[in-house]
Amino acid sequence: MEKQFINAMRSIDWQPAIDIRNVGYLKDSVDPDVGWWNSAIKYFPELSYDANILDVGTWFGVFPRILKEMGYTNVECTECAAHNTGVRDDLQRLHQLFDIAPFEFEVTPGKLFSLPKTYDLITVLHTNMHWQIHDLYCIQKGDGIEPRITKEWQVVDSNGITNTFFVPWKVHEWQSFIDSIKQQLNPGGVCIMQPHPWPYDSEPEVTELLAPYIKEHSVEHSILCITKD
Ligand SMILES: C[S@@+](CC[C@H](N)C(=O)[O-])C[C@H]1O[C@@H](n2cnc3c(N)ncnc32)[C@H](O)[C@@H]1O
Repeated sequence: MEKQFINAMRSIDWQPAIDIRNVGYLKDSVDPDVGWWNSAIKYFPELSYDANILDVGTWFGVFPRILKEMGYTNVECTECAAHNTGVRDDLQRLHQLFDIAPFEFEVTPGKLFSLPKTYDLITVLHTNMHWQIHDLYCIQKGDGIEPRITKEWQVVDSNGITNTFFVPWKVHEWQSFIDSIKQQLNPGGVCIMQPHPWPYDSEPEVTELLAPYIKEHSVEHSILCITKD
């Protein structure tokens, strides 16, 4: 599977996509030598080519594009308007180029959800879905500045370092995600999820809940495989 994935990736001409959005993130995710998808595809199950597959939070759509190149015929994907303002036009052009049509889907922390159908494989890769940023507030103060409240959650400091603030899902949010995603899996199905970053090493309650699903965990690399049964 891994070899087939890499071969499919190599066989695609990615230049037209890079011409639409010339950024390191896209270039890394289409470069087989970077290994952007390596951790996830290690856990890819044996599937027939007509298996129902859903890539949640596809962004550029690179992952479903590669799966389609491999011969999978029922690959769907989602995008989330609340998270893609500012890049939406480029994403739409890329989705057209890749011949994919993501449907709108947003997981609200702690709320049960459902999808239009059930799947043999659901991928949620390099995801920031477990970041709660909507509830963050920032108070800005400084010499000669009237204090004001903002919803800033990402700040580049004077050293040029990007600081991203978020509150990760706790047990309650994870429990509703797991309950919901299991309902969307066919018997024998799996959800491969890569929460990025992994902030839970000092959170025993969350790690205990997720223990049955954790395959790998470190700040930059984590993999959960959530099965239906
Ligand atoms: C960092 S991008 C990952 C893109 C791609 N899956 C990858 O592996 O490169 C995170 C994706 O998750 C989506 N997303 C973030 N929060 C979400 C939420 N609460 N519900 C659904 N999708 C969400 C974003 O729109 C985006 O497509």
